Amino acid sequence: MSKQKIVVAYSGGLDTSVMVHWLKKNYDAEIITFTGNLGQSKELEGLEEKALKSGASKVYIEDLTREFLEEYAFPALKAGALYEGAYPMATSLGRPLLAKALVEIARKENATMVAHGCTGKGNDQVRFEVSVGALAPDIKCIAPLRTWEFKSREEEIDYAIANNIPVAATKSNPYSIDDNIWGTAIECGVLEDPMVEPPEDAFIHTVSPENAPDQPELVTIEFESGIPKSVNGKEMDSISLVQLLNEIGGRNAIGRIDMIENRLVGIKSREVYEAPAATILHFAHKELERITLEKSVMHFKTLISQEYANLVYNGLWFTPLREALQAFVDKTQEKVTGLVKLKLYKGTIKISGRTSPYSLYDPALATYTAEDQFDHSASEGFIKIYGLPYKTINRVMQKVEVESKLSV
Ligand code: ARG
Repeated sequence: MSKQKIVVAYSGGLDTSVMVHWLKKNYDAEIITFTGNLGQSKELEGLEEKALKSGASKVYIEDLTREFLEEYAFPALKAGALYEGAYPMATSLGRPLLAKALVEIARKENATMVAHGCTGKGNDQVRFEVSVGALAPDIKCIAPLRTWEFKSREEEIDYAIANNIPVAATKSNPYSIDDNIWGTAIECGVLEDPMVEPPEDAFIHTVSPENAPDQPELVTIEFESGIPKSVNGKEMDSISLVQLLNEIGGRNAIGRIDMIENRLVGIKSREVYEAPAATILHFAHKELERITLEKSVMHFKTLISQEYANLVYNGLWFTPLREALQAFVDKTQEKVTGLVKLKLYKGTIKISGRTSPYSLYDPALATYTAEDQFDHSASEGFIKIYGLPYKTINRVMQKVEVESKLSV
């Protein structure tokens, strides 16, 4: 009988390199690795060789950057989904896609198991396993980091050396970093103290406000039905557009986020993010919605944004509720088309103009000049009825007070 196959979500770091060898030995299985490129800045060169040397028999490396932006990040942008009002969820949005790709390879290879290198106290394990389960309930998900014998990085390094597993020669980074084109999550080291300001060396993509140019930079962004299509008048594909905004934002210190965040597993953690393009796009998109969405739709959508963000953060991408909310969101976006002009300056974003063919801003109604078309006289009757319940309360209460005084 041929050996069982396990498809491993492989990053090339210490954990997943050790994992390849460990799984091969402990499960007596054939190991296939899968690495998804989501536009991270780290080179994927040399990864195949590393995986093979760690014990893999086959290596898949797939570029998923476009799919990630167009099928995950942009839908969440349209939803205005920021976890706890701040985090654009680069990591959270990437996991369901990686899980989907992992399942596809498992199917192709007739593998019955997949494995990931997430720890037992993070959100990512949940995102991976719930997504794999929703897409392929018959496939078993293994999480060696939750159960294996290694208690520290040092023990893993010892195991790696003893088994000829290539470990990165570079000086180890004091931070734990998860990076993709939509943003970077930076954890560990001194960042675990919430009173410590993140040191400059924690950041990869942005300069500090102090080091940003003394002149503001103007940028215009055009959207079509909630999707960004051009920057500074130049039409661009999704990848180039986000890359360009990462550069523009990065040099103007835009998109650094430092927050205490509520994890799904019940703990608060200190998270530092950099997401220049996502921050700019969320800001611009919101401003365009202000001028194109009808009031009640815009107000109701804030509730949807929050629920949608919670679903994504909590690993519930492939669920009927997320899909139903997406349908609502997509409907709201039909007329979110137009141009937003922004001014970036030392870590801040200011709106400097917006326009849309579907703009609901009517100068004839808004103006205080002689051109005014608003029917002022209609306000009198409107206010009379609008305020009626509150007048009624007051009248009734006064009557009750008078009667209670009379009865003593
Ligand atoms: N707290 C963020 C999230 O849950 C970032 C997680 C970063 N993941 C990582 N493996 N370093 O989405």
